[in-house]
Amino acid sequence: MKLDFHTHGKLAKRLPFSTQYTDWLFEEARNAGLDAICLTEHFNTLQFDELYGYLLETSRREGDTLLLPNGLRIFPGMETDIAEGGHVLSLGTAETILELNRRLAPHKQPGHFLPFERLMDLFQEYDILVGAAHPYREGGHIPALPLEQLKRLDFLDLNGKDVAEDRQRAETLTHTLGERLGKPVVSGSDTHQAVQYGCICTDFSAGITTFSELRRQMLAGAYRITVSERAAFQVKTAGVLKRALKEIHALGGDYVKVLLSGEKDKNARSFNERIAVTHETVVIDYSPRADQMAWKIREAADDMARKGFELVSATATGSAKAILIFRKKGTGLNFLS
Ligand SMILES: [Fe+2]
Repeated sequence: MKLDFHTHGKLAKRLPFSTQYTDWLFEEARNAGLDAICLTEHFNTLQFDELYGYLLETSRREGDTLLLPNGLRIFPGMETDIAEGGHVLSLGTAETILELNRRLAPHKQPGHFLPFERLMDLFQEYDILVGAAHPYREGGHIPALPLEQLKRLDFLDLNGKDVAEDRQRAETLTHTLGERLGKPVVSGSDTHQAVQYGCICTDFSAGITTFSELRRQMLAGAYRITVSERAAFQVKTAGVLKRALKEIHALGGDYVKVLLSGEKDKNARSFNERIAVTHETVVIDYSPRADQMAWKIREAADDMARKGFELVSATATGSAKAILIFRKKGTGLNFLS
Protein backbone atom coordinates (compact mmCIF):
# COMPACT_ATOMS: atom_id res chain seq x y z
CA MET A 1 0.00 0.00 0.00
CA LYS A 2 1.60 3.23 -1.20
CA LEU A 3 0.81 5.85 1.43
CA ASP A 4 1.63 9.57 1.54
CA PHE A 5 1.70 10.62 5.21
CA HIS A 6 1.45 14.39 4.73
CA THR A 7 -0.95 15.99 2.21
CA HIS A 8 -3.37 18.90 1.97
CA GLY A 9 -6.84 19.12 0.44
CA LYS A 10 -6.77 22.84 -0.33
CA LEU A 11 -4.39 25.06 -2.29
CA ALA A 12 -3.78 27.40 0.64
CA LYS A 13 -5.05 28.14 4.15
CA ARG A 14 -6.69 31.45 3.33
CA LEU A 15 -8.40 30.36 0.11
CA PRO A 16 -11.99 29.11 0.17
CA PHE A 17 -12.62 25.38 0.05
CA SER A 18 -13.49 24.14 -3.44
CA THR A 19 -14.99 20.69 -3.96
CA GLN A 20 -13.82 20.75 -7.60
CA TYR A 21 -10.23 21.47 -6.58
CA THR A 22 -10.27 18.78 -3.91
CA ASP A 23 -11.76 16.25 -6.35
CA TRP A 24 -8.96 17.09 -8.78
CA LEU A 25 -6.35 16.54 -6.07
CA PHE A 26 -7.69 13.13 -5.11
CA GLU A 27 -7.98 12.04 -8.73
CA GLU A 28 -4.38 13.06 -9.37
CA ALA A 29 -3.19 11.32 -6.19
CA ARG A 30 -4.57 8.10 -7.63
CA ASN A 31 -3.03 8.84 -11.03
CA ALA A 32 0.32 9.32 -9.30
CA GLY A 33 0.11 5.69 -8.13
CA LEU A 34 -0.86 6.30 -4.50
CA ASP A 35 -3.24 3.88 -2.79
CA ALA A 36 -3.76 6.05 0.28
CA ILE A 37 -3.04 9.45 1.76
CA CYS A 38 -3.07 10.97 5.22
CA LEU A 39 -5.05 14.17 4.77
CA THR A 40 -3.17 16.41 7.19
CA GLU A 41 -4.91 19.69 6.47
CA HIS A 42 -3.75 22.75 8.41
CA PHE A 43 -5.77 23.03 11.63
CA ASN A 44 -6.38 26.72 10.96
CA THR A 45 -7.29 26.52 7.29
CA LEU A 46 -10.55 28.18 6.19
CA GLN A 47 -13.52 25.77 6.21
CA PHE A 48 -11.65 22.87 7.83
CA ASP A 49 -14.91 21.23 8.93
CA GLU A 50 -16.52 21.69 5.51
CA LEU A 51 -13.63 19.87 3.83
CA TYR A 52 -14.17 16.92 6.16
CA GLY A 53 -17.95 17.17 5.81
CA TYR A 54 -17.56 16.84 2.04
CA LEU A 55 -15.26 13.85 2.44
CA LEU A 56 -17.68 12.11 4.76
CA GLU A 57 -20.46 12.67 2.21
CA THR A 58 -18.52 11.39 -0.80
CA SER A 59 -16.68 8.42 0.70
CA ARG A 60 -17.59 5.19 2.40
CA ARG A 61 -16.05 4.07 5.64
CA GLU A 62 -13.67 1.14 5.70
CA GLY A 63 -12.12 0.54 9.12
CA ASP A 64 -10.90 3.93 10.29
CA THR A 65 -10.38 5.17 6.75
CA LEU A 66 -12.57 6.92 4.20
CA LEU A 67 -12.60 5.22 0.82
CA LEU A 68 -13.33 7.43 -2.19
CA PRO A 69 -15.15 6.14 -5.29
CA ASN A 70 -11.86 6.26 -7.25
CA GLY A 71 -10.27 3.82 -4.78
CA LEU A 72 -8.13 6.36 -2.93
CA ARG A 73 -8.08 5.61 0.80
CA ILE A 74 -7.93 8.55 3.19
CA PHE A 75 -6.54 8.43 6.70
CA PRO A 76 -7.99 11.59 8.33
CA GLY A 77 -5.54 13.94 9.98
CA MET A 78 -4.49 17.48 10.80
CA GLU A 79 -1.33 19.61 10.90
CA THR A 80 -1.06 21.89 13.95
CA ASP A 81 1.30 24.79 14.66
CA ILE A 82 3.02 24.89 18.04
CA ALA A 83 4.09 27.97 20.00
CA GLU A 84 7.80 27.07 19.84
CA GLY A 85 7.68 27.03 16.02
CA GLY A 86 7.04 23.86 14.04
CA HIS A 87 4.20 21.62 12.96
CA VAL A 88 2.72 18.48 14.51
CA LEU A 89 0.75 15.88 12.53
CA SER A 90 -2.11 13.98 14.13
CA LEU A 91 -3.94 11.02 12.56
CA GLY A 92 -7.25 9.64 13.78
CA THR A 93 -10.84 8.97 12.76
CA ALA A 94 -12.69 11.81 11.04
CA GLU A 95 -14.81 12.38 14.17
CA THR A 96 -11.74 12.59 16.42
CA ILE A 97 -9.96 14.99 14.10
CA LEU A 98 -13.05 17.21 13.84
CA GLU A 99 -13.44 17.25 17.62
CA LEU A 100 -9.78 18.09 18.15
CA ASN A 101 -10.05 20.84 15.59
CA ARG A 102 -13.00 22.37 17.47
CA ARG A 103 -11.13 22.15 20.77
CA LEU A 104 -8.16 23.93 19.22
CA ALA A 105 -10.33 26.87 18.10
CA PRO A 106 -8.88 29.32 20.69
CA HIS A 107 -5.35 28.46 19.55
CA LYS A 108 -5.56 28.93 15.80
CA GLN A 109 -3.96 32.35 15.48
CA PRO A 110 -0.22 33.15 15.79
CA GLY A 111 0.45 34.23 19.34
CA HIS A 112 -2.13 31.73 20.60
CA PHE A 113 -0.63 28.44 19.40
CA LEU A 114 -0.29 25.84 22.14
CA PRO A 115 3.19 24.86 23.27
CA PHE A 116 4.19 21.31 22.33
CA GLU A 117 3.68 19.92 25.84
CA ARG A 118 0.12 21.23 26.15
CA LEU A 119 -0.78 20.10 22.65
CA MET A 120 0.51 16.61 23.45
CA ASP A 121 -1.52 16.63 26.69
CA LEU A 122 -4.62 17.31 24.60
CA PHE A 123 -3.72 14.70 21.98
CA GLN A 124 -3.10 12.15 24.73
CA GLU A 125 -6.81 12.16 25.55
CA TYR A 126 -7.46 10.49 22.20
CA ASP A 127 -6.44 7.33 20.41
CA ILE A 128 -4.41 8.98 17.65
CA LEU A 129 -0.99 8.79 16.02
CA VAL A 130 1.14 11.89 16.43
CA GLY A 131 4.16 12.85 14.34
CA ALA A 132 6.64 15.69 13.95
CA ALA A 133 6.13 17.25 10.50
CA HIS A 134 9.31 18.19 8.59
CA PRO A 135 11.29 18.54 11.86
CA TYR A 136 14.26 20.22 10.18
CA ARG A 137 12.36 22.79 8.10
CA GLU A 138 13.57 26.35 8.63
CA GLY A 139 11.61 28.12 11.39
CA GLY A 140 10.81 24.88 13.23
CA HIS A 141 12.27 24.08 16.62
CA ILE A 142 10.97 20.60 17.35
CA PRO A 143 14.41 18.92 17.55
CA ALA A 144 15.38 21.39 20.32
CA LEU A 145 12.49 20.32 22.58
CA PRO A 146 13.25 18.27 25.73
CA LEU A 147 13.86 14.60 25.02
CA GLU A 148 11.08 13.42 27.36
CA GLN A 149 8.62 15.52 25.36
CA LEU A 150 9.88 14.30 21.97
CA LYS A 151 9.48 10.70 23.15
CA ARG A 152 5.73 11.28 23.27
CA LEU A 153 5.71 11.34 19.45
CA ASP A 154 4.76 8.25 17.44
CA PHE A 155 6.67 9.03 14.24
CA LEU A 156 8.78 11.54 12.31
CA ASP A 157 7.96 12.87 8.84
CA LEU A 158 10.74 12.68 6.26
CA ASN A 159 9.23 15.44 4.18
CA GLY A 160 9.26 15.39 0.37
CA LYS A 161 9.71 19.12 0.11
CA ASP A 162 12.84 19.02 2.26
CA VAL A 163 14.18 15.90 0.53
CA ALA A 164 13.78 17.62 -2.84
CA GLU A 165 15.80 20.60 -1.64
CA ASP A 166 18.61 18.70 0.07
CA ARG A 167 18.05 14.97 0.23
CA GLN A 168 21.18 14.07 2.17
CA ARG A 169 20.59 16.67 4.86
CA ALA A 170 16.91 15.80 5.31
CA GLU A 171 17.54 12.04 5.41
CA THR A 172 20.57 12.19 7.72
CA LEU A 173 19.01 14.58 10.24
CA THR A 174 15.57 12.95 10.32
CA HIS A 175 16.85 9.36 10.60
CA THR A 176 19.35 10.38 13.29
CA LEU A 177 16.56 11.94 15.36
CA GLY A 178 14.39 8.87 14.75
CA GLU A 179 17.15 6.59 16.08
CA ARG A 180 17.73 8.85 19.08
CA LEU A 181 14.05 8.70 19.99
CA GLY A 182 13.49 5.13 18.90
CA LYS A 183 10.63 6.28 16.64
CA PRO A 184 9.82 5.26 13.07
CA VAL A 185 10.53 7.67 10.22
CA VAL A 186 7.88 7.68 7.49
CA SER A 187 7.39 10.09 4.61
CA GLY A 188 4.93 12.58 3.20
CA SER A 189 4.97 14.87 0.17
CA ASP A 190 3.37 17.90 1.89
CA THR A 191 1.62 18.66 -1.38
CA HIS A 192 -1.04 21.37 -1.71
CA GLN A 193 -1.59 20.51 -5.35
CA ALA A 194 -1.25 17.57 -7.63
CA VAL A 195 2.17 17.69 -9.25
CA GLN A 196 3.93 16.97 -5.95
CA TYR A 197 2.14 13.66 -5.30
CA GLY A 198 4.49 10.72 -5.56
CA CYS A 199 7.71 12.71 -5.03
CA ILE A 200 8.09 10.56 -1.93
CA CYS A 201 5.94 7.82 -0.45
CA THR A 202 5.88 5.10 2.17
CA ASP A 203 5.26 1.69 0.68
CA PHE A 204 3.79 -0.87 3.11
CA SER A 205 3.87 -4.54 2.27
CA ALA A 206 0.29 -4.94 3.52
CA GLY A 207 -3.01 -3.13 2.94
CA ILE A 208 -4.08 -1.21 6.05
CA THR A 209 -7.48 0.17 7.07
CA THR A 210 -7.14 0.91 10.79
CA PHE A 211 -4.85 3.09 12.88
CA SER A 212 -3.97 0.22 15.23
CA GLU A 213 -2.73 -1.79 12.24
CA LEU A 214 -0.93 1.24 10.84
CA ARG A 215 0.83 1.71 14.19
CA ARG A 216 1.79 -1.96 14.26
CA GLN A 217 3.20 -1.92 10.72
CA MET A 218 5.12 1.31 11.37
CA LEU A 219 6.68 -0.06 14.55
CA ALA A 220 7.54 -3.31 12.78
CA GLY A 221 9.27 -1.31 10.03
CA ALA A 222 7.21 -3.20 7.44
CA TYR A 223 7.62 -0.49 4.82
CA ARG A 224 10.15 1.24 2.66
CA ILE A 225 10.40 4.87 1.65
CA THR A 226 10.76 5.59 -2.07
CA VAL A 227 11.92 8.92 -3.48
CA SER A 228 11.09 9.80 -7.07
CA GLU A 229 13.98 10.71 -9.37
CA ARG A 230 11.88 13.70 -10.37
CA ALA A 231 11.22 14.86 -6.78
CA ALA A 232 13.15 18.13 -7.08
CA PHE A 233 11.40 18.99 -10.35
CA GLN A 234 7.97 18.10 -8.91
CA VAL A 235 8.43 20.24 -5.82
CA LYS A 236 9.76 23.19 -7.83
CA THR A 237 6.92 22.97 -10.37
CA ALA A 238 4.39 22.67 -7.54
CA GLY A 239 5.77 25.86 -5.98
CA VAL A 240 5.48 27.79 -9.25
CA LEU A 241 1.95 26.49 -9.87
CA LYS A 242 0.84 27.33 -6.33
CA ARG A 243 2.11 30.90 -6.63
CA ALA A 244 0.46 31.37 -10.04
CA LEU A 245 -2.91 30.01 -8.86
CA LYS A 246 -2.86 32.17 -5.73
CA GLU A 247 -2.08 35.22 -7.88
CA ILE A 248 -5.06 34.46 -10.15
CA HIS A 249 -7.25 34.35 -7.03
CA ALA A 250 -5.75 37.60 -5.69
CA LEU A 251 -6.56 39.31 -9.01
CA GLY A 252 -10.19 38.27 -8.69
CA GLY A 253 -10.02 35.31 -11.07
CA ASP A 254 -11.31 31.78 -10.66
CA TYR A 255 -8.13 29.69 -10.25
CA VAL A 256 -10.06 26.43 -10.17
CA LYS A 257 -11.67 27.18 -13.52
CA VAL A 258 -8.35 28.22 -15.05
CA LEU A 259 -6.75 25.03 -13.77
CA LEU A 260 -9.46 22.61 -14.78
CA SER A 261 -10.95 24.07 -17.96
CA GLY A 262 -8.03 23.22 -20.30
CA GLU A 263 -9.23 20.09 -22.05
CA LYS A 264 -12.96 20.57 -21.64
CA ASP A 265 -12.99 24.12 -23.04
CA LYS A 266 -11.01 23.55 -26.24
CA ASN A 267 -13.92 24.97 -28.23
CA ALA A 268 -14.56 27.81 -25.81
CA ARG A 269 -14.11 31.40 -26.89
CA SER A 270 -10.55 32.70 -26.93
CA PHE A 271 -9.38 35.45 -24.59
CA ASN A 272 -9.64 38.00 -27.44
CA GLU A 273 -13.13 36.85 -28.24
CA ARG A 274 -14.15 37.07 -24.59
CA ILE A 275 -13.08 40.68 -24.28
CA ALA A 276 -14.21 41.80 -27.79
CA VAL A 277 -17.03 44.35 -27.87
CA THR A 278 -19.25 44.43 -30.97
CA HIS A 279 -20.91 47.73 -31.86
CA GLU A 280 -23.53 48.67 -34.48
CA THR A 281 -24.41 52.16 -35.68
CA VAL A 282 -27.96 53.09 -36.77
CA VAL A 283 -28.99 56.37 -38.40
CA ILE A 284 -32.60 57.56 -38.01
CA ASP A 285 -34.47 60.64 -39.29
CA TYR A 286 -34.55 63.62 -36.99
CA SER A 287 -37.85 64.97 -35.60
CA PRO A 288 -38.00 68.58 -34.38
CA ARG A 289 -40.45 67.70 -31.57
CA ALA A 290 -38.70 66.07 -28.61
CA ASP A 291 -41.48 63.58 -27.82
CA GLN A 292 -41.54 62.34 -31.42
CA MET A 293 -37.73 62.06 -31.46
CA ALA A 294 -37.77 60.09 -28.21
CA TRP A 295 -40.42 57.77 -29.66
CA LYS A 296 -38.29 57.15 -32.78
CA ILE A 297 -35.20 56.37 -30.71
CA ARG A 298 -37.19 53.97 -28.54
CA GLU A 299 -38.59 52.24 -31.62
CA ALA A 300 -35.07 51.81 -33.06
CA ALA A 301 -33.77 50.58 -29.69
CA ASP A 302 -36.59 48.01 -29.40
CA ASP A 303 -35.89 46.80 -32.92
CA MET A 304 -32.18 46.40 -32.16
CA ALA A 305 -32.89 44.72 -28.82
CA ARG A 306 -34.67 41.96 -30.71
CA LYS A 307 -31.38 41.44 -32.60
CA GLY A 308 -29.41 41.30 -29.34
CA PHE A 309 -28.09 44.86 -29.18
CA GLU A 310 -28.44 47.47 -26.46
CA LEU A 311 -28.34 51.25 -26.91
CA VAL A 312 -25.11 52.95 -25.82
CA SER A 313 -25.58 56.53 -27.08
CA ALA A 314 -27.77 58.74 -29.28
CA THR A 315 -26.63 61.95 -31.02
CA ALA A 316 -28.67 64.39 -33.16
CA THR A 317 -26.71 65.79 -36.13
CA GLY A 318 -26.90 69.13 -37.96
CA SER A 319 -28.11 67.30 -41.10
CA ALA A 320 -31.52 66.36 -39.65
CA LYS A 321 -30.53 62.85 -38.59
CA ALA A 322 -29.75 61.06 -35.32
CA ILE A 323 -26.97 58.50 -34.89
CA LEU A 324 -27.58 55.68 -32.45
CA ILE A 325 -24.76 53.41 -31.28
CA PHE A 326 -25.58 49.91 -30.05
CA ARG A 327 -23.46 47.26 -28.33
CA LYS A 328 -23.94 43.52 -28.68
CA LYS A 329 -25.33 42.22 -25.40
CA GLY A 330 -22.99 40.09 -23.30
CA THR A 331 -19.80 41.21 -25.03
CA GLY A 332 -18.60 43.65 -22.42
CA LEU A 333 -15.38 43.13 -20.49
CA ASN A 334 -16.21 39.78 -19.08
CA PHE A 335 -13.12 37.90 -17.97
CA LEU A 336 -13.37 34.17 -17.38
CA SER A 337 -17.11 34.10 -17.92
FE1 LIG B 1 1.99 20.51 5.49
